[in-house]
Amino acid sequence: MLSKKHVILTGDRPTGKLHIGHYVGSLKNRVALQNTGDYDTYIMIADTQALTDNARDPEKIRHSLLQVALDYLAVGIDPAKSTILVQSQIPALSELTMAYLNLVSVSRLNRNPTVKAEIKQKAFGESVPAGFFIYPVSQAADITAFKADTVPVGEDQEPMLEQTREIVRTFNNVYGQEILVEPEGYFPPKGQGRIPGLDGNAKMSKSLDNAIYLGDSEDTIQKKIMSMYTDPEHIHIEDPGHIEGNTVFTYLDIFAEDQAHVADLKAQYQHGGLGDVKIKRYLNDVLQAKLQPIRQRREQFAADEGAVYDILKQGSERANQVAAQTLHEVRHAIGVDYFG
Ligand code: TRP
Repeated sequence: MLSKKHVILTGDRPTGKLHIGHYVGSLKNRVALQNTGDYDTYIMIADTQALTDNARDPEKIRHSLLQVALDYLAVGIDPAKSTILVQSQIPALSELTMAYLNLVSVSRLNRNPTVKAEIKQKAFGESVPAGFFIYPVSQAADITAFKADTVPVGEDQEPMLEQTREIVRTFNNVYGQEILVEPEGYFPPKGQGRIPGLDGNAKMSKSLDNAIYLGDSEDTIQKKIMSMYTDPEHIHIEDPGHIEGNTVFTYLDIFAEDQAHVADLKAQYQHGGLGDVKIKRYLNDVLQAKLQPIRQRREQFAADEGAVYDILKQGSERANQVAAQTLHEVRHAIGVDYFG
């Protein structure tokens, strides 16, 4: 008998282009895992989830869908090795969501720390969309539809995985069958998975306008790096500088191949006599070298949008078959397969 492969399911909300924070937080891991050949890999563009708080701006989601697809292809997610799918094109996910909603309490959803933080940050006031509130359940449907056991995501998604595991255990318990699979998160190494924004803010994000995008031009990247937050107390080149909380060094820790050189620069900077412009220039060299091939591939794919949509269509069709099979098993377990 063939031994069963591990299964990966992961994805992103298409609310804008992806940036280097997404790259270190998750995209890099996905490509590495894909290339081991040990996994059936499904990468989802979660447009349905994106619509839960953008229902009145569908054009943004429609536009971002293509941008995210281009970012995936640019970083090396390979449609020959990974299935790239579009969430809204997989109807089984909605049906699974309805089935799981009955197994989750409102108070449990209220306690999801990621959703709690998002609700605060998005300032919905009294008008939290119900679809947004329950998106962790829909995310459990995304993961379990493919019987994924491995979910490469950023650390902020751990509460989603915990909630998914609870749903899986409850489902298998209540309906008496080992149909659904409990997933584990797959996270970047400690300290490597999160980069601060260009302004030193803990989070890199579109809304804070402090991100370097995977598709940014050489010129834009350089300008952004030159404007980066460093050490506000490092005024004269001769002054001793701080490296803790200095975003340029944080980026160098994550992106530079030559960490011995980074250690030398840190020592010089702390001692005094090394200017911000010098370290920014070095970071610019490092990042340009990383991002140039990604940008080039992005441009190649962007030149033929039809081919990109074909990749998404084929991926969605393949994914549909897998998700429909799981839904079939779920309906049978619940006993709503009245007509055979
Ligand atoms: N919530 C994820 C994000 O905000 C996107 C997502 C949707 C996802 N469905 C998923 C991630 C399933 C992992 C697994 O980026």
